Amino acid sequence: MEQIKVLLNDDEIPRQWYNLAADLPSPPLPPLAPDGTPITPEMLAPVFPMNLIEQEVSPQRWIDIPEEILALLTIWRPSPLFRARRLERALGTPARIYYKHEGMSPPGSHKPNTAVAQAWYNKQFGVKRVVTETGAGQWGSALAFASALVGLECLVFMVRVSFDQKPYRRLMMEAWGCNCIPSPSKETQAGRTILQQDPESPGSLGIAISEAVETAVSDGSGQTRYSLGSVLNHVLLHQTVIGLEAKKQLEKIGEKQVDVVIGCVGGGSNFAGLAFPFLYDKICGANIEVVPVEPTSCPTLTRAPFVYDHGDTARMTPLLAMHSLGHSFVPAPIHAGGLRYHGVAPLVSHAAMEGLIAPRSYSQLRCFEAAVQWARTEGYIPAPETSHALAAVVDEAIKAREEGQERVILFNWSGHGLLDLASYDAFFRGKLTDYVLPEEDLKRAMAEFAGHPKAELHKEG
Ligand SMILES: Cc1ncc(COP(=O)(O)O)c(C=O)c1O
Repeated sequence: MEQIKVLLNDDEIPRQWYNLAADLPSPPLPPLAPDGTPITPEMLAPVFPMNLIEQEVSPQRWIDIPEEILALLTIWRPSPLFRARRLERALGTPARIYYKHEGMSPPGSHKPNTAVAQAWYNKQFGVKRVVTETGAGQWGSALAFASALVGLECLVFMVRVSFDQKPYRRLMMEAWGCNCIPSPSKETQAGRTILQQDPESPGSLGIAISEAVETAVSDGSGQTRYSLGSVLNHVLLHQTVIGLEAKKQLEKIGEKQVDVVIGCVGGGSNFAGLAFPFLYDKICGANIEVVPVEPTSCPTLTRAPFVYDHGDTARMTPLLAMHSLGHSFVPAPIHAGGLRYHGVAPLVSHAAMEGLIAPRSYSQLRCFEAAVQWARTEGYIPAPETSHALAAVVDEAIKAREEGQERVILFNWSGHGLLDLASYDAFFRGKLTDYVLPEEDLKRAMAEFAGHPKAELHKEG
């Protein structure tokens, strides 16, 4: 019988997270205040609990995962590694395609890997309520789920366009006891300002982040903290269980070498979670192509410059060294809501600047074609975000066929699309269009960086 999946026992779950910051060829650039002075951990204390801030700035390569977090993760981890044999056959490719199925968590994506860790650290620190934003609703539902498990209150600002497109995500959050409101909202100064300018604003992750951060820091009781589902170092760190498990599973099935590692990129966390442990091998000399995939409508890694920019629209966050389309960028309302972010994680941006990863972008229609091909061969229906990785996987498999090469392709199946079926409906009825960001919009964004400190890698020698 052909082997389709590789499972690990509960006690084979990784005991430590991997921190790429320890191994980058040049040191990561610190977050800065607008005047260019480095942000100290104390300055972040009103926003995040200190135990997570310590992880954020840690230079350590390996960080122990507390037993209580391992117990929470084992609700759905280790996640299976699958071999996509049916897709391989349909494409007639000699490539062997493997994927980590992160859609089996209760909320249906990779996001709970960091949500349970963040909720646990907040609880340990004495926090009573966590506030966050969500795009597609995956992160909001993950934090709602994690908050229910550890006993925290949870408030979520959901980007308006997704709030309208995806009512079931809101209901999941409610089922886990969380309060979810559309953003921009009248609850915060940041939201009210945007609504005055544009009462019909579809919202953006940048705006929703402003609302969530404002809510956290303005709670006079000091018992509320902000939680972010991507971008930051500690979030990417928590996701590395994906890649670390994949390594064990590939070894179990007898694969000695991976040729291509692929993941879709919004803020960068699922991509980093799978790819960073393999980047470690690449930095040590392995020959691996590592491919982050983003939408052509929000081409952060492929077209935006590496700059110091704010993580949110109202400029409440520190300046982060990252590829950015500008903090006031409002992307086209494509269905991959989780990929509509103006920036991308500093560690992912840094890896791109070092030439360690090779970003690509795909259009919405191409991604849905790949998603449907996947559903009709492998069975599982992917989230619109995940379909971006799939488009690249299909291309890589065809390339292997054309070149007659037996490549090993590994990718992250970041979430299921069972609550995104409205986007499939739009695709099947011919209502989806492609959108390529016009050059003028990029130029406009450049003006936003004037006056920001310059982001330059400090290469030795
Ligand atoms: C299923 C899925 N994949 C990918 C992403 C993109 O986020 P990130 O780049 O942080 O993994 C999201 C974000 O909401 C998501 O829901």
